[in-house]
Amino acid sequence: MSKNSIRKILNEGNWYHTFLYDDIKTKGTFDYTNNMSDLNLPSLENLEVLDVGCSDGFFSKYFVESLNAKNVTGVDINNYDGEVAFEVLDSYKPQFKEKYESHNDFERLSDAYSDLSLKDSNKFNFIKKIYDIPNISFESGSIYELEKFHSRDVVFCGSLFEHLRDPVTAMEQLLFATKEFCIIDISNTFKSLRIGKKPFIEYTNTGGNFFKYSENSVLQMMSNVGFKRVSILSSYKIKIEKYGYKIPHSVFIGYK
Ligand SMILES: C[S@@+](CC[C@H](N)C(=O)[O-])C[C@H]1O[C@@H](n2cnc3c(N)ncnc32)[C@H](O)[C@@H]1O
Repeated sequence: MSKNSIRKILNEGNWYHTFLYDDIKTKGTFDYTNNMSDLNLPSLENLEVLDVGCSDGFFSKYFVESLNAKNVTGVDINNYDGEVAFEVLDSYKPQFKEKYESHNDFERLSDAYSDLSLKDSNKFNFIKKIYDIPNISFESGSIYELEKFHSRDVVFCGSLFEHLRDPVTAMEQLLFATKEFCIIDISNTFKSLRIGKKPFIEYTNTGGNFFKYSENSVLQMMSNVGFKRVSILSSYKIKIEKYGYKIPHSVFIGYK
């Protein structure tokens, strides 16, 4: 595996998260490298974790390296074949297809991927390989079908609920997959204070980003499917590097 191929993919590939490697900083949409402590995540010492909607594995890597998880299985629906990896309304498919094709850097960087014995542009596998992290692994799958994975001590789901048309079913799947606790990070949440205690959810009217959640709606959904001692771990903002503005997030925890 040549260093040139690694550097090429890091420098010229499409990245969702910013990763630091030698002198290289990937041009991620989100740079969490300095603010992971804002999320206020608990220790995962010796725990087995399922990272649902894991994308490039930024969080999976953090869980083993910084929070001492025993192992992490990252699950994502993306097959890295250029197909749209989100639920989108049929009428929006053509525009999302274009976006996804433009995000797939495999053809452009195929020599570098082949040199690393990688058969697609799955960045999770790339990250596992270049940082040499034996206890993270990628599995293809959907949040709606977590039965196919055995349950784990901890289930994490980051920035996925915004994109789901059926959040209640997804939440229930997270409960079934959880042995101890589940952490859910959701973007574009709004404070329940603004609207009192009612569990409001706003329909966004876009084809692939369905709902904006009040914090209270998430807490109530979690309790209602059966999570216990549900609470908010943190609220934070993260900049979308491309646009320069920050979006709010809320991080929730619920116990089995
Ligand atoms: C916005 S990214 C979030 C990545 C990362 N978890 C984070 O918190 O930054 C959402 C990921 O969920 C994946 N995804 C979309 N629909 C999914 C589904 N039904 N089941 C599992 N993963 C899904 C997408 O392919 C994408 O990688």
